Amino acid sequence: MAEPIIELKGVSFSAQNVEVVRDISMQVEEGKSLALVGPSGGGKSTVLKLAAGLLVPTAGEVLFRGKNIAAMTRGQNLAFRREGAVVFQDSALWSNQDLYQCLELPLKIHFPKMSREDRNGRITETLKDVGYTKNIHIRPAMLSAGEQKLIAFARSMILKPGLLFLDEWTESLDDDAADRLIGLVKKQQAEKRTIIFVSHDFRIIKNFADKITMIMGGKLYRTITRDEIAEDENLSRMIKKGIAL
Ligand SMILES: Nc1ncnc2c1ncn2[C@@H]1O[C@H](COP(=O)(O)OP(=O)(O)O)[C@@H](O)[C@H]1O
Ligand SMILES: [Mg+2]
Repeated sequence: MAEPIIELKGVSFSAQNVEVVRDISMQVEEGKSLALVGPSGGGKSTVLKLAAGLLVPTAGEVLFRGKNIAAMTRGQNLAFRREGAVVFQDSALWSNQDLYQCLELPLKIHFPKMSREDRNGRITETLKDVGYTKNIHIRPAMLSAGEQKLIAFARSMILKPGLLFLDEWTESLDDDAADRLIGLVKKQQAEKRTIIFVSHDFRIIKNFADKITMIMGGKLYRTITRDEIAEDENLSRMIKKGIAL
């Protein structure tokens, strides 16, 4: 078996005296896709943020290529941030920046020597990929939730990441926009990028996920393969409903 690119070992996370997730262990191999599924409030976004190194576990460890993210040096952390990109459930664009600046900032941080022209080129190309054609010199608050998702997606792709963390990434999009992003993620998959995603959309889960991890009540309930969903009607029903039967 290939070495995992991301591994959670006995990870728990508590905030304000509430244990949000408990004792999660999972592995994602390089070039594979893992779906996190389960009921709302079950802890999927929290697990995704822990895997992406955006939350620090209160117990256990999250490893990126075998290194504990919480113990990384600044340089190692920057390299991890450059390789891994996140689309947040609520898009989380920078509200005091215009859309152009939201896309430019990651390039400025990670490629400080890139010319303005090259940055412009990368931004234009990425916006074209996601299908955003409107004004980019406006702030995120002027966009619909779906348009914000497109920009959030563009921001995640701007560094051409090897590892994608996508939270409910087709939610609030119309069918055309969703299909476009599905096409882009398919392309990432074909290029052997690693994808960890949260979705409620059975079609997406069935199409994309090599493995499916079910999270409920802050605990990992079960991890299954794509073939297992096809074979087990009960599991398909559980995933479709997002709840345990
Ligand atoms: N920082 C936090 N402090 C307190 N409660 C939290 C925090 N983060 C998440 N929770 C709670 O933990 C539960 C799981 O949240 P979340 O991971 O967003 O679930 P999901 O993405 O599966 O809907 C929710 O009830 C949420 O309110
Ligand atoms: Mg969530």
